[in-house]
Formats: sequence, structure tokens, C-alpha cells
Amino acid sequence: MSGVWTAMGLLAAVATTSLAASPAPKPSVAHAPFGRAGNEAVELYTLTNAHGVEVQVMTYGATLVSIKTPDRTGRLANIILGFDTLQPYLAGVPYFGATVGRYANRIANARFTLDGKQYELSRNDGPNSLHGGSRGFDKRIWQVEPSPGKSAATLRMKYVSAAGEEGYPGELTAHVSYRLSDDDRLVIEYSATTTAATPVNLANHAYFNLTGDPHQTILGHVLTIDASRFTPVNSTLIPLGELRPVAGTPFDFRTPMAIGSRIAADDEQLRLGHGYDHNWVLEPAAGHEVRLAAVLTDPTSGRSLEIRTTQPGLQFYSGNFLDGKPAGHGTVFPYRTGLCLETQHFPDSPNQPAFPDTILRPGQRYSATTVLRFSVQK
Ligand code: BGC
Repeated sequence: MSGVWTAMGLLAAVATTSLAASPAPKPSVAHAPFGRAGNEAVELYTLTNAHGVEVQVMTYGATLVSIKTPDRTGRLANIILGFDTLQPYLAGVPYFGATVGRYANRIANARFTLDGKQYELSRNDGPNSLHGGSRGFDKRIWQVEPSPGKSAATLRMKYVSAAGEEGYPGELTAHVSYRLSDDDRLVIEYSATTTAATPVNLANHAYFNLTGDPHQTILGHVLTIDASRFTPVNSTLIPLGELRPVAGTPFDFRTPMAIGSRIAADDEQLRLGHGYDHNWVLEPAAGHEVRLAAVLTDPTSGRSLEIRTTQPGLQFYSGNFLDGKPAGHGTVFPYRTGLCLETQHFPDSPNQPAFPDTILRPGQRYSATTVLRFSVQK
């Protein structure tokens, strides 16, 4: 691939090349109306970097609508599942690209006890609460705020979640920002403050399909997860509390493995998850540094995605509930045509004292960073 090498691209030149297309546009942010959710206007923001990588985000759910990156021939395509109109999102899609909160993932029996008081949450997944309940942060309109710095295309958004919303205590003020840099990184930063102690777990729920063709399955994608343990689950996908070694199991992705190579293995955890739908335990980096969590590559297009994060967990979900049945708006999501790599805290942490703490208290600031880096393999 011809074009300009970035400093970071050169550092990573062993296995991948940076994404370069010509002519080079300046980093920019543009926006346009994207429709209405009830009485509220929804805006679509488009971030573009100097290589032509393009990221679209809408204010409904602070949702990643599309990420366009080139394949090894330079052809741009969207690598996440999404729609070019608002309507299908309003009709109900399983969290495509959304910012999920107040608590990403499941809380067992939709309840937890904090400082001696029991809280009942909205129950929207069998007995459990999933991704913040019936109307989580993915179904709220986020306000766009001015973003500091001009060196990269940046979008900063805010959502104030009322005390008691979906059963959670305290008014939570949450921010998420998306920054697309010229070295082909999308930096996602989360922060939050609260008026009363509350669990917080914010994550992005993009479904990746690096082929750029949402009709192809992701089973040929090759995945590496830098984790030696995972959290096995029960039949409602709540962790048992154990940190189980991946060695000798289909959950060992410490070396690159095709997702489809072991997904049908005779394994109790794969049966319970209907495939992969589990949290991997990331060893913490020094300080509050972003550390390598996963690398996903698609051998056919050459596209590669590296994920770094400050978070302690990575939920790898292989799109098992994309079942090929028509959704409310007539669209069909064929089986396993997208996969999620959600950097977050462990599921059900408010009920699992041995898991890393997810309680935010007044005077404290929640913060988390995840970095997606896009490149191509020759
Ligand atoms: C969960 C899946 C769930 C999906 C969509 C993922 O984060 O792990 O179990 O089906 O979200 O709701």
C-alpha cells in the first residue's frame, strides 16, 4: 500500500501497515440532522481523519453508526453493524454501536445491595437486568458539548441520568468522547460523577464485521485476547464468581485463533453462552495505562483492529442472538454476522464482592479509556 507512514504506523510496521489514502483531507467534524426520537431531534456527527477514515456517531445513545476503514486495496467499507437512518434504531436493535449504561452487562436478578440498602432494577433479560435496563443510556439523547483541542476530530457528549432512573440511586452525570486521530486510532473516553453511591459500568457495544459486508459471518475472523482467565457463567449468563484459566479450553485466545475453529466444540460454557458470550479477565496495567486487550483481523480484507483499554474486563460476544429472524422493522440480522468486544467491568460486579469494585461515590470521578486502532495486514 502506498502513502504516508505515520510515526505510530512505523512502530507497528512488523505486522501491519498504517491506513493511508490520498488526497489527505484535514481532520474534521461535520454534523447533520438524523431524524427525531419522539419530540427530540437526533444529530449525526461525522469525524474524518487525514487518511479518510470516517466515524459516524449519533446523539441517540451516543451510538457509533459507522466506522469506515480501507481494506488492503484501499477500498473503504463500514466495519460495524449499523443503519443509515434512525428508524431501525428506534424500532429496536440489540445495542448496535451504542453506549451502554448505567451498568453495561448483566446484574443478577435485577437487584443489588449497597451500604445496607437493597435496590431493585428494571428487569429486561429473563430474571436479570441487562445494559442498564429497559431504557438504558443507549436509548437516551446525549447532549453535544464543546470539545477542547484542534489536533484531532473530537466529539464530546453528556447525559445526565436522574436519581432512580431504571432503579439506580443517585443522579449520574456521564460523559463520553470520541477522538479520531491521524494515526488511525479512535480514542473513547468515559467519565462520570454522582450525587449518591451507585454502580457504574460504561461500554460501547459495536458489532464488528471487518469484511465490510454485513452478510458475511465473522467466523473466519482471527482473534487474540491477552487474558489467561475468564469468568464462567450460569444458564442466565451470570458469572459463577470463579476466575477460570483458559488454558486447554476453547476460551484460550492467547495466540491468534479463528473464531469459528472451536465455537462448536463440546464445551459446557460454550453451550451456556450459545457460543462465546463471556468476560475475559485482563491483567491490570501499571497506573491507569491503556493495555492491550485484543487484536481482531480479517484475513480476506486484511483489516485489523487492535483494542487497548484501562478496563479490567473484555466481554467477547460472538453475535449468537443475531438469529436470522426479521427484527421489528423487517431487517434481518443473519446469524453471527457481527461480534462485540466490549471493554468493561465484570458482569454482576455489584453482587460479587471479589470482582473489581464498580461503585462510584460522591466526590469521586469514574473514568475509563478504550482505544481502537485500525490498520491493514498485507
Ligand atoms: C451480551 C449478550 C447480549 C447482547 C445484546 C451482549 O453484551 O453479552 O448476551 O445478547 O449484548 O443484548
